Amino acid sequence: MSRVRKAVFPVAGMGTRFLPATKASPKEMMPVVDKPLIQYAVEEALDAGITEMVFITGRSKRAIEDHFDKAYELEAELQARGKKALLEVVKNIVPSHVNCIYIRQMEPLGLGHAVLCAEPVVGNEPFAVLLADDLMDVCKGKPSVTHQMVKVYDKEHASILAVQEVPMEETKSYGIVSSSPWNKESERVNAIVEKPDPKDAPTNLAVVGRYVLNPQIFDRIRKVGKGAGGEIQLTDGIAALLNDQPVLAYRFDGTRFDCGSKIGYLKATVELGLKHPEVADEFASYLATLG
Ligand code: G1P
Repeated sequence: MSRVRKAVFPVAGMGTRFLPATKASPKEMMPVVDKPLIQYAVEEALDAGITEMVFITGRSKRAIEDHFDKAYELEAELQARGKKALLEVVKNIVPSHVNCIYIRQMEPLGLGHAVLCAEPVVGNEPFAVLLADDLMDVCKGKPSVTHQMVKVYDKEHASILAVQEVPMEETKSYGIVSSSPWNKESERVNAIVEKPDPKDAPTNLAVVGRYVLNPQIFDRIRKVGKGAGGEIQLTDGIAALLNDQPVLAYRFDGTRFDCGSKIGYLKATVELGLKHPEVADEFASYLATLG
């Protein structure tokens, strides 16, 4: 049994990059083929054996709660029409042993602040953080990215950040780390900085939206002031944590789609469409006709 039982999903962000689609509905509910982004993230956590799903939500995010709740009318209707397969899809979004917990972040004060909102539920345990904007795809049958990170955590008991190299000109969109060798599967983080200009960036090794964190992070976040963009940054909390415990950078096995951007979202739709059993063949033939 892993010690990591809880996952935090910060979902209070406004999704301005997808307006007008996100004017009245949460960006995390945007579908890739037939599942909303948040469901991919929850399934990834489930694959890692996580049972407590903690959503940090905000105003106009009710659809997320409804999505993971029972849908009485819909289920009764599907039952009455004998639509068994669809009924199973709707009923089994999360297994019955899993708890979904919702905490409202009343003001958009930043990712660090959102994570801090989870403290009353997470308590003194390690926990995962998943940003649903980053859709992490792995080959069929392989452990999810969060699962991979939880395995490393169970060996090392150190906080772990998922990282990948990005083009130097994109450092302004990420937490950027510098690291040195640690063991076969991970590196030790020496420094981390939020959204540096390419000219100031120590490397092009970027944190993408998966973390496994020790609970001491809460105290560190509480003490950091406003950082980049005037927000309370998770990155600054991690930088403070580095002073007293090792933090690891993990180059995950899988493909990350940046579904917070239009192009990343379109790529995810194409790639996952080409894998979806119901549409893969027809979609591939269609794409071939585009030349
Ligand atoms: C957040 C974090 C950043 C991280 C990124 C990954 O930024 O603050 O450190 O690299 O997620 O997607 P955001 O994309 O919310 O601006």
